[in-house]
Amino acid sequence: MSHLRKKVIAANWKMNMTASEVTAYLTNFLEEIKTVLAVDVILIPSFTSLPKSSELLALIPGIYLGAQNISSHDKGAFTGEISAAMLRDLFVRYVLIGHSERRHLFGETNDLIHAKIAIAHRHEIRPILCIGETLEERLAGKEKQVLEQQLREALTGFSLEQLANTIVAYEPVWAIGTGKTPTLDQAEESHLFIRSTLAQLSNSTTAQKIRLQYGGSVTPANTREFLSAPNIDGVLVGSASLDPRTFAQIFLQAQHA
Ligand code: 13P
Repeated sequence: MSHLRKKVIAANWKMNMTASEVTAYLTNFLEEIKTVLAVDVILIPSFTSLPKSSELLALIPGIYLGAQNISSHDKGAFTGEISAAMLRDLFVRYVLIGHSERRHLFGETNDLIHAKIAIAHRHEIRPILCIGETLEERLAGKEKQVLEQQLREALTGFSLEQLANTIVAYEPVWAIGTGKTPTLDQAEESHLFIRSTLAQLSNSTTAQKIRLQYGGSVTPANTREFLSAPNIDGVLVGSASLDPRTFAQIFLQAQHA
């Protein structure tokens, strides 16, 4: 069934690269990849690089801009926050919500994450909901329980269309920036579990439309293997996306997966 879902790779640059550095990156990356056909690419720079990136990517099909965060409020007295309308105005099409760094370093709760997903949908920005268990939770055999709770609390109450327009990224916390990855079987088991939980929250037709990404120590060397799993439709890449050539290799691997 995975042929129904277009593959999608995303680069989360986190708090790296100035706007000038992003400009140089994009020039190099676009030279390397040449055509984008079989795979959607989402580039997720810092807020300060969004205007320039938006300008440079405006005429390029298949490459979309994402933001790393979004305010849960529409507008008003929320100093330092960035609203959905501000992102839309820059042609931002996707937004990371609930990344493990936001959950663990900035105290984001599932309730806040739910509110952010709601506002993103209202402004037609597609959420990339990030979920994943810590090492402690996995060792205690609780990973499915954690994933189910994260999904339920973040995604209850949305329409089938909104759910179909959501990407869910499974990023085990212990695999982020560590060089450790789950085995292919472990990764597929988690993604299959995520898809069946999504079917309970919607229905099986909708769950089959939702794209699932794996994230955590993805490299050009392991991309193809992850993408061979029936329920993994893409990868969300941190460190290995900071070099345009390396991320272009990941893109090429994904195109041939
Ligand atoms: P790494 O690819 O550096 O492990 O980071 C993964 C990540 O957090 C992407 O959102």
